[in-house]
Parts: sequence; C-alpha cells; structure tokens
Amino acid sequence: MNDYSAEEFLDLSKFSGLGEDPAYHPPVLSDRPRDWPLDQWDEAPRDLGYSDFSRYQWRGLRLLKDPDTQAALHDLVFELKPRTIVELGVYGGGSLAWFRDLTRLMGLDTQVIGIDRDLSRCQIPQDEMHNISLREADCNDLSTFEQLKDLAHPLIFIDDAHANTFNIMRWAVDHLLDEGDYFIIEDMIPYWYRYSPQHLIQYLSSFRDVLSMDMVYANTSPQLDRGVFRRLPKKDR
Ligand SMILES: C[S@@+](CC[C@H](N)C(=O)[O-])C[C@H]1O[C@@H](n2cnc3c(N)ncnc32)[C@H](O)[C@@H]1O
Repeated sequence: MNDYSAEEFLDLSKFSGLGEDPAYHPPVLSDRPRDWPLDQWDEAPRDLGYSDFSRYQWRGLRLLKDPDTQAALHDLVFELKPRTIVELGVYGGGSLAWFRDLTRLMGLDTQVIGIDRDLSRCQIPQDEMHNISLREADCNDLSTFEQLKDLAHPLIFIDDAHANTFNIMRWAVDHLLDEGDYFIIEDMIPYWYRYSPQHLIQYLSSFRDVLSMDMVYANTSPQLDRGVFRRLPKKDR
C-alpha cells in the first residue's frame, strides 16, 4: 500500500512500552536451528536470535517486568506481605497473574486489582481470575478511582500506566495509603529525569512529608530506578 491518504494513522506512541500484541508468542528462531549440532558448538551464534522485546512471560501471559524487577518485587512482597496489590496498567494481564500466583505461593491472601481504561486486551482466562479483579478507570479522571476505597492493608500501589502519575500519587496518599504502604512508579523516572529534571525533583520533593524513597528497593532494577516510595507515618495536623 502506498496511498498515504487511504486510512487514518494511529498514534504510535500508544504502543510504546507495550508493543502491538498483548498475547504472548513463543520465540521463533528464523535464522538458525533450535537444535544446534554439538560438533559445531564453537560456531554457534551468541546473540538471542529473536526479538527480546516481548520475551518475558508468566505461564503464557506477557509480563512486562524484567527478571531483576521480578526479583525485587518478590523480595518486597515477601517482606511486606501485602493484602492488596493495585496495579495501574493491565495490558495482557501477565503481571496480575504473576502477583496473584506469587502471593498464593507465599501463603498470603492477597487481592490483586488491575486498573486500565482498556481492559479488552487482558488475556487471563476466566477460570484463572481467582483473587484478581479488573476495574475500568482512567488515570486522567480521578473520580473513576473512587471505587478503590476501603482496601485491606498492607498495600502496594504500582503505577505502570504512566498517565497523570503525580496527581494519582497525591490521590493515593490522601485516600488510600496507610503508614508502610508503597507507591511505585515503574519505568518512567529515568526518562523524566532526563527530559524534565526540574519538574521531577520539585514534584517528588513536594511529597517529602508523606513519602520516603525505600533505599532497599530503589536501585534494584532499571524499571524501579528511584521510583519505590513508602508512606511515612501520618502526622497530626
Ligand atoms: C505498560 S502497560 C501495563 C503492563 C503490565 N502492568 C505488565 O507489567 O505486564 C500500560 C497499560 O496502561 C494503560 N493506560 C494507559 N493510559 C491509561 C490511562 N490514562 N488510564 C488507565 N490506563 C491507562 C494502557 O491501556 C496499558 O494497558
């Protein structure tokens, strides 16, 4: 097709961080055999041989958390023993199933809540939804978050939707987080620090009386880079 007037172009930034396909597909090696002969062991290619972008999965669901991030979140979940995990950004649903399975393996009774403005891409089978609930909400409309009140603590709140983050952080501090609960900004801090350092520093600093950065987890993976915050004790006003 070379007629550029034939259709409306989608905004490709819609797919950034995601890819176009929420379903997981096993890697396909197109330029080499999977069974490499051992008498040519020394000549085998050393690169991955397939796209690393949608490589991570959990039981057949795409999971957009790399292994270092998974390890750090495992440690945090084991330490905190959360009764609720809220994640903004569901996409294929892999991380919801991963959190649910992880907490279940640890013997915890944790409710995992996934929030997205478009839940249609969630790939979790209906009979795999135990302890997972999906809620439609738009980060740009905080009134749609009212449904999140009265959740059990300890609680971990992860922003993996990357829209209106600091207003959501303020809403979470005011309405949701108790002392010791977590608010995590995934992926974005290094980009914001690169492109808008003054805003970022100013915004984070404005939360100094209500949140701290937890230095056990803040430097554990590039996805969590300086984005792991813990609710401080509430002061009497
Ligand atoms: C990076 S993906 C989530 C990946 C998932 N948490 C994981 O780790 O596998 C981001 C998701 O945020 C959602 N999203 C983007 N903007 C949003 C908004 N304004 N409100 C709610 N969800 C939004 C997108 O629909 C997308 O599914």
